[in-house]
Amino acid sequence: MDLIANHISHRFGTLEVLDDVSFTVGAGEVVAIVGPSGCGKSTLLSILGGLMQPAMGMAELRGAPPADSFNPLTFVFQDFALLPWCTVESNVEFPLRHTALSVAARRALVDDALRRTGLTDFRAAYPKQLSGGMRQRVGIARALAVKPAILLMDEPLSALDSQTRELLMEDFVRLLADGAMGAIYVTHNLEEAVRLADRVVVLSRRPGRIREVITMPMTRSDRGGAEARSKLLALQADLWSLIRNEAIDAEREVQDA
Ligand SMILES: Nc1ncnc2c1ncn2[C@@H]1O[C@H](COP(=O)(O)OP(=O)(O)O)[C@@H](O)[C@H]1O
Ligand SMILES: [Mg+2]
Repeated sequence: MDLIANHISHRFGTLEVLDDVSFTVGAGEVVAIVGPSGCGKSTLLSILGGLMQPAMGMAELRGAPPADSFNPLTFVFQDFALLPWCTVESNVEFPLRHTALSVAARRALVDDALRRTGLTDFRAAYPKQLSGGMRQRVGIARALAVKPAILLMDEPLSALDSQTRELLMEDFVRLLADGAMGAIYVTHNLEEAVRLADRVVVLSRRPGRIREVITMPMTRSDRGGAEARSKLLALQADLWSLIRNEAIDAEREVQDA
């Protein structure tokens, strides 16, 4: 199943936010969307996930979703969006509540999602008892439980400290390794983009237009080692040189407003 941004433009009142954005996310592909603050990244993700209608163009799905998927496009949120009065297990089970699954089948999906995120021993804990990183793992497990074809992630690590972010990036590399699931990964963090993406879509400042699409020259599994470090830093520097002036202008705009 492919997800296609087909000439998407959007405005809020008179504020033009996105201008003719087109790209395709193929099955199992990870596409990062980067761009200066306020350029329309979150708006674009909401449109792609079907939460909002664009003023022009459309988000399209091509091809059948995987047969075992309960929700082909599933969001992971920056603020985790957990239910504080529910245990880890109940949070992960939540999106399966209204499915016709047997208790045993539901339990198997939840167990699998908990196992893949290292949460098995924490299933009875409440969100407030967990660190930020573990809370986001619950958010990820809840997304995995519905067997998504494409994860839609909006700054999923931005609320976390740098060491936790590093660990969660390793989790993502592992979870995405078999190519069964693709992702759109919105971030302002270029390190996350070059570490995780197959392609990086660079947006201009608002109204967000595609400035460049960069295909990563190495596989994700080759990026973890020490040898890859300098290459990734160089790619990050390339991205920053594309975005820097736009970011300066975007920041001035915010300050003028
Ligand atoms: N619901 C809305 N109503 C009006 N303006 C909005 C709304 N949502 C976002 N905006 C504005 O649209 C622009 C793009 O927002 P957003 O997509 O959140 O950017 P990003 O995620 O790249 O920082 C910003 O200027 C923001 O203030
Ligand atoms: Mg945003």
